[in-house]
Amino acid sequence: MPAISPLDGPVAVTGCSGFTGGHMVRELVLQGYQVRACIRDANSWRGKDCVDYLNRLPRVEIVDGCDLFTPGSYHAAFNGCTAVFHTAAVLGNSANLESQPLGSGDTSMDVFNGGVIGTQNIIDAINASSSVRRLLYTSSMAAVRGSRHTRRTSAPDYEWTETDWAYEGIEPEVWESPRNAYARSKVETERLVNAAADASGGRWDAITMAPAMICGPVLFRAQVGQWIEQLGRIAAGLPTAWPSKYDMYYDIIDVRDLVKAQRLAAESAVDHGSTHGGPRYVMHGTGGHSALRLGTEVRALIHEYFPAFVLGEPATVTSSGERITVEANGVNDCKKAKSVLGATIRPVEDTIRAVIETSIELGVIEPKRSEAPATGSRTASFSSPEDAYWEFFRADRAQDAERWADVMSYPHVRVAAPTGTASFETPEAYASNASWDARKATGWVLSRGAEPVRLHESPDKVHLAGGWTRYNIDNEPILSNRVTYVLTRLGERWGIQARFGVDSFDEGENYETAAATAVEVVERFHSALGSGDFEACARLCHYPMTEVGIGEVAQFEDAATARERFAAMTDRNAASEIRAAQMGSRGVVVSVTARGQAGGTVNSVFLVGNREEQWRIAGISAITDPQG
Ligand SMILES: NC(=O)c1ccc[n+]([C@@H]2O[C@H](COP(=O)([O-])OP(=O)(O)OC[C@H]3O[C@@H](n4cnc5c(N)ncnc54)[C@H](OP(=O)(O)O)[C@@H]3O)[C@@H](O)[C@H]2O)c1
Repeated sequence: MPAISPLDGPVAVTGCSGFTGGHMVRELVLQGYQVRACIRDANSWRGKDCVDYLNRLPRVEIVDGCDLFTPGSYHAAFNGCTAVFHTAAVLGNSANLESQPLGSGDTSMDVFNGGVIGTQNIIDAINASSSVRRLLYTSSMAAVRGSRHTRRTSAPDYEWTETDWAYEGIEPEVWESPRNAYARSKVETERLVNAAADASGGRWDAITMAPAMICGPVLFRAQVGQWIEQLGRIAAGLPTAWPSKYDMYYDIIDVRDLVKAQRLAAESAVDHGSTHGGPRYVMHGTGGHSALRLGTEVRALIHEYFPAFVLGEPATVTSSGERITVEANGVNDCKKAKSVLGATIRPVEDTIRAVIETSIELGVIEPKRSEAPATGSRTASFSSPEDAYWEFFRADRAQDAERWADVMSYPHVRVAAPTGTASFETPEAYASNASWDARKATGWVLSRGAEPVRLHESPDKVHLAGGWTRYNIDNEPILSNRVTYVLTRLGERWGIQARFGVDSFDEGENYETAAATAVEVVERFHSALGSGDFEACARLCHYPMTEVGIGEVAQFEDAATARERFAAMTDRNAASEIRAAQMGSRGVVVSVTARGQAGGTVNSVFLVGNREEQWRIAGISAITDPQG
């Protein structure tokens, strides 16, 4: 198969003033390719902006005057190239006569012809070159996923793959209607390039990529349009404007993942034609978590990263007062591109953040900042333990040290079962210690919190069993932990007073031996406590040993001070239940329920860690429930 490499000669990219085209050039030069960058008009404002950007990249030769509506205008650009990455297209938002002076003036006709007639010009130039071995055509999910008239309504969980075609299940007259011009153009152009590749007798082949909504960092201002413009509008406090002002689902693919997959496809020796659904690859979905509702989920993500911004909102009610219906978009996961090409799909959070950050950097948007303290500011107030728990992860993802510090109750302590303790007296101390560098060095991009479960609760203290998983840029889990969070309410505000981490957790591992050992340590502790043998209690601890109260944390540096404390632990009788609540290979959180001496119940968590082959207690937190 005609796999290409940077050593074989230059490659050409069409539509380089566009979002995908600009990124395609960047991806290729970063991988060592010599690139012929085809643009339509270097003197238009988009052309100038694009040329200004491309001139800063190495190994780029700009070829001006390449118009899909001008036969022969790509011949010189393709001559001597090994591959063509065809991303140029006439799109609905740029199909008027001003944007398409060589078009007919009929938007849907020009959208259709820009694909079919324009790509015939591309094919003619490939055939004339005698050097091009591979065409990479950027089609669209619009050629794969039907409109709402097809499967979507009957099966919202349907997973669209390379065997699906948008015309299936649609009445011919509906399919032929002008509003389907874009989808028809993409379907017919895919057929056209496949037939032309077959007709070349093996001189060149064609591979098609079918991306969903392409988003990601803006490289230069002329790229702004379509979905990235709408995300920028929300961040700038404006309503969305295209394709309508209404809320909808965003099925996002990151442009960086798309252009990387296109390059990998070009470099792959696989016989693409014999793969599932033929030589096409759907590129939709960010690990199955890409179809996000714009007005709620996408907006919430923008708020997470930019909490001070006043955000715009897509409309959910029509001007006549009718509530609009927002349909789910089905299951999204580009399994074939991942397995055949080795394509990687980054977390959607990273994509959305990149759109907003680069839009600000390039001066495309000027967000308005809220006067009132937003959630996540230093005066944030968390009305429930779970509120504070989830803000802990949002602030961490935003890498905002002060906001992260604001989630804690002070003094704050973190105890790692197998290693040790870090404590912070003030938010300032916590913030100045916060750094993401070590994590980033491991490839970390973001962490996601586990669904928390309340182990024990009272009106002002809660033990929340949670944890996290860290992900890399390919949205792959790189490290997980299980942590019991001790949340306290000081005044009206919940905050995290302590974290007890098992720090040795792998999903799917069996930790029963560790759990049994840790439970036995806590059983021995309780029996020694009951018999007044405080020496024995103290011998069962690592030092420093931490006890977490409400608004206070005690650290016992040695057995002598701990013994005194245990002697004063007169509030609990023998334990009625001792069980492992969270487990790892070197740390276990043990939950204990004991009857209180004055009635009621004392519920505790014990962090038991294996340090230097000794399983001992590193942390204790108790909640007294007088009614329990
Ligand atoms: N954006 C999406 O979410 C999305 C989703 C699925 C598929 N796609 C497909 O992906 C490809 C790239 O889309 P995009 O969003 O990156 O597009 P874009 O940013 O709008 O860029 C379109 C490019 O096509 C060029 N172009 C327009 N009319 C032309 C003509 N008559 N002759 C030559 N070039 C012309 C534009 O050049 P000028 O600057 O000169 O106008 C521009 O470089 C298209 O095939 C599109 O259908 C896009």
